[in-house]
Amino acid sequence: MVLESPAPRNEVVTTDSLQCFYTGKVSDSIPINIVFHTDYENWKSHQSQSVQNWLQTACTKLEPSRPVCIPDTKGRMASVLVIAEQENILWSLGNCPRSLPAGHYHIAHAAGSSNLDPYLLGWGMGAYHYTRYGKNEGPSCRLSIDDARDKHQVEVLLEAVSLVRDLVNTPASDMMPQHLYQCMQSMTEGFDVDLSACVGDALIEQNYPTIHAVGRASVHLPRLISWHWGRKNHPRVTLIGKGVSFDSGGLDIKSARGMRLMKKDMGGAAHAAGVASTIMKLNLPVHLQVLIPAVENAISGNAYRPGDVLTSRSGKTIEVEDTDAEGRLILCDAISRAVEDNPDLIIDFATLTGAARVALGTEVPAFFTNDQTVAQELTAASASVDDPVWQLPLHRPYRQLLDSDIADISNCSSSGYAGAITAALFLDEFVPDAIRWLHFDVMSWNTRERAGRPKGGEAMGLRAVVEFLQRRYA
Ligand code: BES
Ligand code: ZN
Ligand code: ZN
Repeated sequence: MVLESPAPRNEVVTTDSLQCFYTGKVSDSIPINIVFHTDYENWKSHQSQSVQNWLQTACTKLEPSRPVCIPDTKGRMASVLVIAEQENILWSLGNCPRSLPAGHYHIAHAAGSSNLDPYLLGWGMGAYHYTRYGKNEGPSCRLSIDDARDKHQVEVLLEAVSLVRDLVNTPASDMMPQHLYQCMQSMTEGFDVDLSACVGDALIEQNYPTIHAVGRASVHLPRLISWHWGRKNHPRVTLIGKGVSFDSGGLDIKSARGMRLMKKDMGGAAHAAGVASTIMKLNLPVHLQVLIPAVENAISGNAYRPGDVLTSRSGKTIEVEDTDAEGRLILCDAISRAVEDNPDLIIDFATLTGAARVALGTEVPAFFTNDQTVAQELTAASASVDDPVWQLPLHRPYRQLLDSDIADISNCSSSGYAGAITAALFLDEFVPDAIRWLHFDVMSWNTRERAGRPKGGEAMGLRAVVEFLQRRYA
């Protein structure tokens, strides 16, 4: 029996990410002074004697991004001092919203820069809290956003980051393919888009066999969610996101430990949605197409099996070496669909391999591209917005590792090496050389808490990509 399960809770995007800001004058707003470590002694010498005394005696440990509350002579909170790192100012205020006393704040002095936007963004990202299931301690600290250089850009980026975090943090039971579709509905509301989904057996009729094969074992029907936005005469940019609601591994079942975080396996879809939302809100002159293959990699009597051969949309046959390498399978049919419209650029995001995490750790997304100019532009954009990404090579000689005895290609290599590269090479097989393509293998999850980056779902490389797109197309 195949059920289209009801979706009782669809208030998926719960976080009002802009609640951490205020506009207009507030009389008792507390000033925040942001000072580079190297300027600290000089800055201190210009403070009142009582402030100097207090810093000297009470405040022995100054660390970047660790706010220090400074009292007035009556012991009331008078100001906040934050030490900033010259090469990385973004996260300076990241700890503030969750560690300062409730109240209103404004930036009185900002080290080095007249542009407050990175500080505001860092504050906003640090104010995030996932509230859908209670634990609702909404933001109690607010920062004035009046002096932003580009308030709209700050707000749009913050909303995109919160969207990604919310989508990823939501448990699989409430983020199945149909819920993902509802989220796409609510986030595209008000924009001129033609959102649709190809669901269940329609995937066979419309020739998306790999998406169907991976998703057919779940009671939650697999689907390809898609929409267009923007003017047809603008360059076409296609975003694709791996939307695996939950990755049990399929018949090649994961260990309990390996499965624990797999609600995040739709992180690629979340990233594609986040980037798409910024493109639309910032009105970038591109013709946007979004393709989200959404499935649950589940186990049941009709699950696809190791050794099965799938005929993909492209006609290439794929031998299933491992049902846990499902992401590349659903992505290849989405890529083939994208290629049919001859876009200027395809960008895909996917929580694709553990191997990418072995190579770069959990905090640096790997990217691959068939265009070195794209690589250079992206690397420069990434550095300018403090959003790290790192290129790995599409080393074509490793393609041999994907050779199959009976089909055109295997879905993964049986060698334990270069897993992120062979996954990218599998996808590369479906992208003609003439089409520019950028692929992200991303963790989508903070395994530890850092300033501005709470544990849990995370947007990684999103701001780098938005900056890259703005520079390239705006
Ligand atoms: N979703 C996982 C990849 C993953 C695991 C990303 C952990 C981030 C953290 C993916 O579907 C998967 O299971 N990949 C396998 C591929 C292997 C079977 C070739 C992996 O990486 O082990
Ligand atoms: Zn898997
Ligand atoms: Zn997966």
